[in-house]
Amino acid sequence: MTLFIVGGAGYIGSHMVKLAHLAGHKVITLDNLSTGHRDAVLYGAFEYCDIQDANRLNELFKKYTPDAVMHFSAYSLVGESMSDPYKYYNNNTVGTLNLLKAMIDNDCKNFIFSSTAAVFGNPEYIPIDEKHPKNPINPYGKSKLMIEQMLEDFDSAYGLKYVVFRYFNAAGHDESGELTERHDPETHLLPLIMQTVRGEREAISIYGNDYDTKDGTCVRDYIHVNDLSRVHLQGVEYLMSGDVDSKVYNLGNGEGFSVKEIIEKVKEITGKDFKVIEDERRAGDPDTLIASSQRAKDELGFKPEVDRVEDIIKTLV
Ligand SMILES: NC(=O)c1ccc[n+]([C@@H]2O[C@H](COP(=O)([O-])OP(=O)(O)OC[C@H]3O[C@@H](n4cnc5c(N)ncnc54)[C@H](O)[C@@H]3O)[C@@H](O)[C@H]2O)c1
Repeated sequence: MTLFIVGGAGYIGSHMVKLAHLAGHKVITLDNLSTGHRDAVLYGAFEYCDIQDANRLNELFKKYTPDAVMHFSAYSLVGESMSDPYKYYNNNTVGTLNLLKAMIDNDCKNFIFSSTAAVFGNPEYIPIDEKHPKNPINPYGKSKLMIEQMLEDFDSAYGLKYVVFRYFNAAGHDESGELTERHDPETHLLPLIMQTVRGEREAISIYGNDYDTKDGTCVRDYIHVNDLSRVHLQGVEYLMSGDVDSKVYNLGNGEGFSVKEIIEKVKEITGKDFKVIEDERRAGDPDTLIASSQRAKDELGFKPEVDRVEDIIKTLV
């Protein structure tokens, strides 16, 4: 298959590029390098492209005639989305609309989309399955839910087929050590802890210790980035298998770990002690987010290979 990997210079996209290439696909990364890194694209072609640029997108669709598009590009800082919602609706929602238009105009009708647990808002029950009500509580989650809604209409009207994957917390690195997570600013727990372990930051902050959880700190579900990438390949193979329906899947490991538990596990695995600061809660953090990925298991054969959180952490050490 010829695959466009939009956002392939980012954390998850760069892992996807590697896996898709090793699976024998022709891979082309489209990225504007706003948060990604050119040197993270280790395989296939790289084309500088901002998805806001319709002419450039058309030129690239004509040049490569891809069978499918995997769309990872987005801004994804929840706090920033609250203070600058325009940036999120413009880059995420309008940008994706533009990308979808280029797909339809160029008769490419297979789409894999990176959505997020943030479309659900505060959970009404745990684990969160695909039927859970969607009430996003920040512009980031809303910008992604709008795309999910647009996709339903693009399927009915233009026959665009899609698989939406809603990730919970992507974590870990490729075992080779060739690829890493390099967000700036970094907001994800595990890379922040690892920066503290390496002495690049003085301490790790815990935001809130009075949540309704076992030890008062937030509980999250971590999924290894290569397990995510593998199920994306299963998703694209499903779409290419013929006359199929569009699908939506939640992706996690189905197990929750508190911030304190993760910190303790990193201390245990690395044998290093480091400073931990108990700070105020941040706005918009739900107590607990745990996915049910039963549908992806039953329908796509999703089978995580790095499913123990200790093993996810070990890929970072
Ligand atoms: N990391 C997570 O835990 C997580 C969880 C849920 C959902 N997601 C979603 O997964 C996707 C990838 O996340 P990530 O952590 O790899 O992010 P990332 O910031 O590392 O990667 C995003 C990539 O998209 C590119 N990009 C952004 N705007 C663009 C534009 N207008 N045109 C072209 N390229 C553009 C960036 O340069 C970057 O390379 C995002 O859509 C994010 O919302 C991530």
